[in-house]
Amino acid sequence: MTNEQHTAPVEEKPARKKIILSGIQPTGIFTLGNYIGAVRNWGQLQEDYDCYYFVADLHSLTIRQNPADLRKQTLEAFALLLAAGIDPEKSLVFIQSHVHNHAELGWILMCNSMFGELSRMTQFKDKSAKHADNVNAGLFTYPSLMAADILLYQADLVPVGQDQTQHLEFTRNVATRFNGLYGDVFRLPEAYLPKEGAKIMSLQDPARKMSKSDPNPKARISILDDEASILRKFRSAVTDSEAHVCYREDKPGISNLMTIYSVVTGKSYEAIEDEFDGRGYGDFKTAVGEAVAEELRPIRENFARLMADKKYLEDVYKMGAERAQSISNRTLTKVRKKVGLLAKPF
Ligand code: TRP
Repeated sequence: MTNEQHTAPVEEKPARKKIILSGIQPTGIFTLGNYIGAVRNWGQLQEDYDCYYFVADLHSLTIRQNPADLRKQTLEAFALLLAAGIDPEKSLVFIQSHVHNHAELGWILMCNSMFGELSRMTQFKDKSAKHADNVNAGLFTYPSLMAADILLYQADLVPVGQDQTQHLEFTRNVATRFNGLYGDVFRLPEAYLPKEGAKIMSLQDPARKMSKSDPNPKARISILDDEASILRKFRSAVTDSEAHVCYREDKPGISNLMTIYSVVTGKSYEAIEDEFDGRGYGDFKTAVGEAVAEELRPIRENFARLMADKKYLEDVYKMGAERAQSISNRTLTKVRKKVGLLAKPF
């Protein structure tokens, strides 16, 4: 060792990057709403955070699924995450059910979730009304599994839509209760709400959220739609009769299109109002359609390439599952010990 090296200042340990974690259910090809509200932001967070993203296939079992479709959709959802810019070299990407720690901690947390608090979840109330013939126990304990997903990885921040904030609050409550009983085991996660564009509405009924399951295909843009259908759907988007492009609460259709255009082009609402001042809705709708088609084209192309290479996808989700298992083992081992489960002999 030279003298110089010997006296060089000790490099400061870099601060720990915060952990971001989120999951998405594989029930149907993502819409433009899922993309703008979630997945697009996930890709952008990769540089600044330690990101963990997964396909929440276990959660999809709370609704009756066709097994072959679920398998196919799980692989497609995984490929879509990669196609939309989540880089497996930068982020941990995996499939929830490939890491059995989720189910195991899910059970332990169920035993620390109260019947009363689960009964208050609005998603449970909505879904049990909608699927009255299948109000199963999983639908009821869904939030305990979601809490396990989050707490296993000691996540700091969880990007979720408005509809999941109650589940995140529930997660914090369960974690606080558990920590109170057993000492500091879980980090308390916080919601990470994206600045804007979080909520994209239906193109046919701008009072409702754009949904994968909308029976009217004109109401939603699928992330894999081709250019012609994207243009067609935007041209037939429901708007008002004022023919003045501006962002206003009483103009939900045009405002929704402005949100989409603004997110995709990076232009502000004022800039968009100027750009289309004195021009009709037709021009504007075409411009939005073209911008969206341009944004989605590389995703569609990446997706086709990935789906043609199943071996690559398999390698990536295998690597992801192994890493996820090893990271989450740390928390689970601690939890098992705390609650009194005998140490595993292997
Ligand atoms: N419940 C979420 C949804 O339907 C998906 C999900 C499952 C999730 N586990 C998660 C989201 C953990 C964030 C963190 O949108």
